[in-house]
Amino acid sequence: MQNHWRSSRSKGLIVVALAAFILTLAAPDYPGPAQAQPAGSAAAAIQVPKGTLDAVTAILTRRSIRDYTPHPVPPEMIKLLLTAGMAAPSAFDERSTEFVVVNDPKILKEIAKVNPNSRQLKKMTVGIVVCGNQAKEKHKGQGYWQLDGAVASENILIAANAIGLGAVWTAIYPYPDRIPKVQKLLNLPQEVIPLNIIPVGYPAEKKITGDRYDPARAHTNRW
Ligand SMILES: Cc1cc2nc3c(=O)[nH]c(=O)nc-3n(C[C@H](O)[C@H](O)[C@H](O)COP(=O)(O)O)c2cc1C
Repeated sequence: MQNHWRSSRSKGLIVVALAAFILTLAAPDYPGPAQAQPAGSAAAAIQVPKGTLDAVTAILTRRSIRDYTPHPVPPEMIKLLLTAGMAAPSAFDERSTEFVVVNDPKILKEIAKVNPNSRQLKKMTVGIVVCGNQAKEKHKGQGYWQLDGAVASENILIAANAIGLGAVWTAIYPYPDRIPKVQKLLNLPQEVIPLNIIPVGYPAEKKITGDRYDPARAHTNRW
């Protein structure tokens, strides 16, 4: 009985592997419908470009990219990055993070002035401003909107790398001079705090990704 189950399971696995292989071959270039089926949402079909890095490779090869070509980033890719941001975990599932995509050259120019030392802001043709909506926090004053926003931002940075784009976290929060400037520029409500701007573009610089594993930072059971 058990052997029979095993052999039908192996056959099932072969069929699934074959189907996955055929789907990979059939997947056209972006925005082709390579189907990602996130856990618990069988109906959701997220379009993932052909050639997207697997999650671990994308994490391990991510670097901050601050120089971009002028080539415009397709809106589908920006939507995918927002989808990645919104897929992040959040405290109590409060989903306090909101996103402002900025592609208006006039606003981009003004945003670049918020932090004149950041060359990436001068180079960007599109940026995602990641914001924490304090009104959505289920437990106020615990620092959760910042944490929600940080994990959403990291998802965006990793997803950008996975699909061949360059991006970098450019801090707005916690600088008290930058926050109100960006709030005003983007017409944000008072309770919506901009955490960072993530410029997104095709990389015009290459960076080496070394192995940063440091055994001195890893502890087991006790410090
Ligand atoms: C909270 C936070 C704030 C950051 N702020 C900035 C910033 O304002 N400007 C910038 O160029 N990079 C910023 N960075 C990117 C870091 O400088 C970068 O991650 C770090 O130097 C490591 O390099 P890597 O991202 O290429 O691995 C920030 C990163 C984090 C996590």
